[in-house]
Amino acid sequence: MALATTTLALYGVGGAALATSLVKLRQRIGLSQAKHKSLAGHARIARRLAAFVPFYDYDESRFFCSDDAPADVREHRRAGFERLSALYKTRFTETIRRTAEAAESISDLQFTDAYRVPFQYSRYVRTHLPSAAFMQSSAGVTVTDLDGNRFYDVSGSYGVNVLGYDFYKGAIERGAARVRELGPVLGSYHPVVVENVKLLKEISGLDEVSFHMSGTEAVMQAVRLARYHTRRTHLVRFCGAYHGWWGDVQPGIGNPQPARDTYTLRDMSEESLRVLRTRRDVACVLINPLQALHPNGSAPSDSALLDSGRRAHFDKEAYTAWLLALRAVCTERNIALIFDEVFVGFRLARGGAQDYFGVRADLVTYGKTLGGGLPIGVVCGRSDLMKRFRDDRPADICFARGTFNSHPYVMAAMNDFVRHLQTPDGQSVYRNLDQIWNERAQKLNERLHAEKLPVEVANLSSIWTVCYTRPSRYNWMLQYYLRVEGLALSWVGTGRLIFSLDYTDADFAAVADCFIAAAKAMQRDGWWWSNPALTNKSIKRTILKEVIARRLFSAGP
Ligand SMILES: Cc1ncc(COP(=O)(O)O)c(C=O)c1O
Repeated sequence: MALATTTLALYGVGGAALATSLVKLRQRIGLSQAKHKSLAGHARIARRLAAFVPFYDYDESRFFCSDDAPADVREHRRAGFERLSALYKTRFTETIRRTAEAAESISDLQFTDAYRVPFQYSRYVRTHLPSAAFMQSSAGVTVTDLDGNRFYDVSGSYGVNVLGYDFYKGAIERGAARVRELGPVLGSYHPVVVENVKLLKEISGLDEVSFHMSGTEAVMQAVRLARYHTRRTHLVRFCGAYHGWWGDVQPGIGNPQPARDTYTLRDMSEESLRVLRTRRDVACVLINPLQALHPNGSAPSDSALLDSGRRAHFDKEAYTAWLLALRAVCTERNIALIFDEVFVGFRLARGGAQDYFGVRADLVTYGKTLGGGLPIGVVCGRSDLMKRFRDDRPADICFARGTFNSHPYVMAAMNDFVRHLQTPDGQSVYRNLDQIWNERAQKLNERLHAEKLPVEVANLSSIWTVCYTRPSRYNWMLQYYLRVEGLALSWVGTGRLIFSLDYTDADFAAVADCFIAAAKAMQRDGWWWSNPALTNKSIKRTILKEVIARRLFSAGP
């Protein structure tokens, strides 16, 4: 009898363990199904593979014909490259000299310099088309380098420049004048903070505000709060989305440490919704609405422009439906929905992405332009999620500080910015915004098409990316042609063009002329020569073979 009872109990325990394992297995499978099939969707594998890729680069002869172009094309390219190089060295002399000097001691400059183009070409390009990373002034939509060359600025200062540089110069000056009496006193607030909070609550539609020093920190705090209040461990981010450089939101390449409590799921996918519906460990879902332009794609940089596979297309209706579905599942499962509007906030609409897509979040992070030209990160949220301590457990707190939080000068420049949004002038900026930028993109695309250039642009309002319509290994060269035609791009090259909203039609027409001239010159110089056998797939295959051969047959690690 006793034996029978024990056996039964063992069966019971075994059955329960089996059931638990099956549930876990099902969840594990569900998670795998909700991953995007690209490497960006598999952060751990991507990191491991990245460690496997050895350095190699092309010598001068291979540099010009890595796509096996015939000798005449190669020589044509070489002549074009030499002309460009001579132009660089005569036109940007002082700017290049100062950059080279500074790069010896600025690690960030060394990094951006090395990662402007695919690594196989990088060394040769750096030698002949050196970086010119200094500017001396800005005015209107232009910036001027140390040699006096004026460029149309399409870098957008990483997205900070929404209203135009002249506005931010004014905001900083007016702000500094307002808080001068207090100066850099930290810890106590300048009264200007009160109005900032009032306006931010109104803009975000949320109850409370906290100030930080960068977008990265704002995201850290939003996620920490979500974990604290839900008592769950994991954050969900979507494939390719950037949320700053803090470890938990950067689980793949770039972070030496694996992120243990992060799920990277597929954007716009039913399987991802299923994961959110079934798992119990998800504290928050982080959305960067910029992904609407390239769901599941990483921030496009020319250093990854190995072929012409870059794709982008903004479908507002589809993305809105996705956000609504996420909203519903987050509400149902008590998961905090965080909109990371550090990039797009105040660029798409006065009320940011929440306003633009008509979907409300529980926590919203802002940054960049909100500082009125100075460094900032802000979290706005529901009061139950923003609270940093528990009334019934005094030692259980959610700690967040920062020496420079609420710095008077930043608060005052911010105040100038948020007040400006209240004025008729500030509000008029957003009138017909999408229509204006969509028409500009369409016109440029029509011109590119009419000129039979294998290039087109895709846009999310004033945020643009350049796509390439014919397989090629040399698309990244366009950034250098654009510069000599007078466009200042950021270090990610043609992956991201960001326009400030003070661009007039005439300014934009001038940019479009530069763009066409650059693309035509590049075409003339033979970089887009392409034989019918060349496909994006065949390019990738060639590179893979090179990597494997290098790995197997070269000495060294
Ligand atoms: C969506 C988003 N979140 C966070 C960040 C990080 O902001 P910061 O560079 O101010 O730390 C960025 C920066 O580009 C961003 O685009």
